[in-house]
Amino acid sequence: MARHFLRLTDLSPVETRQVIERAIALKTQPDPAYRPFVGKTLAMIFTKNSTRTRVSFEAGMARYGGHALFLHSGATQLGRDEPISDTAQVLSRMCDIIMIRNDSQADQQELAANSRVPVINGLSDLHHPCQMLADLQCWFEHRGDPAGKIAAWIGDGNNVCHSWIEAAAMFGFTLRIATPKGYEPDPELVAAAGTHIELCTPDVAATGADLIVTDTWTSMGQEAETKKRLADFAGFQVDAAMMARAKPDAIFMHCLPAHRGEEVSTDVIDGPQSVIYDEAENRLWAQMALVEFLLK
Ligand code: CP
Ligand code: NVA
Repeated sequence: MARHFLRLTDLSPVETRQVIERAIALKTQPDPAYRPFVGKTLAMIFTKNSTRTRVSFEAGMARYGGHALFLHSGATQLGRDEPISDTAQVLSRMCDIIMIRNDSQADQQELAANSRVPVINGLSDLHHPCQMLADLQCWFEHRGDPAGKIAAWIGDGNNVCHSWIEAAAMFGFTLRIATPKGYEPDPELVAAAGTHIELCTPDVAATGADLIVTDTWTSMGQEAETKKRLADFAGFQVDAAMMARAKPDAIFMHCLPAHRGEEVSTDVIDGPQSVIYDEAENRLWAQMALVEFLLK
């Protein structure tokens, strides 16, 4: 049975830690002769735009001797209503591993259920586990083990926030979440993470935090709601005053793409506490450690 990575908790805490440690090793001890993916093909299905996810998987597979196929759904039969189960059966007879970015965790589960090879979630409506691996790697690199620390999520309680919730329970940190009314994270995920999650106001969330993280107020597919969201999220911008409430050595994270002047002020995202480009770079290392783990 192939192992899949559709959400962070598809790996055990020990396995997740191993993947992060491996990602740090791949990054810090580069070996140009290391080619574990020679002859291996990664199929990448996208129904939505991407810069980091596509490039990190594609560049990573090339670096380690493998091949990545970019399959925009609109250019495949999936975009003409071929069942995702048939797509899974066919791709997994030709490719060694599959990544999918779409707007349905349920479709990803169906893909995985019909695939002989591992399936990786490259973003769904509910989770962004690859981003979370990169973010955890980044937190470890900059400040050490997150256990016992406090992260503040300020913004929309959707896919990326959900992966942070699973990470909080897995790595033993507190995640304070501040969202406008109506944008709260999935209550079942919050309940499952127990005392690791605190729902509060932005000011309370930021006070004494070790890390502040946010995401766009308008996720892909929600563009028609942009005007309403801009109004609803007023007061939720991560700005210098909010960073000043956090610990003096707090770091700022954002999965990108960012909208400067909306969810984060320009001085914060481009300031000395921001680690956004390390975070983005880690997508490559974390995902190659993941692919290595899943292909073993
Ligand atoms: N953070 C992230 O997933 O970026 P892309 O949408 O560019 O892939
Ligand atoms: N929440 C964002 C994340 C993009 C990487 C979205 O779903 O568009």
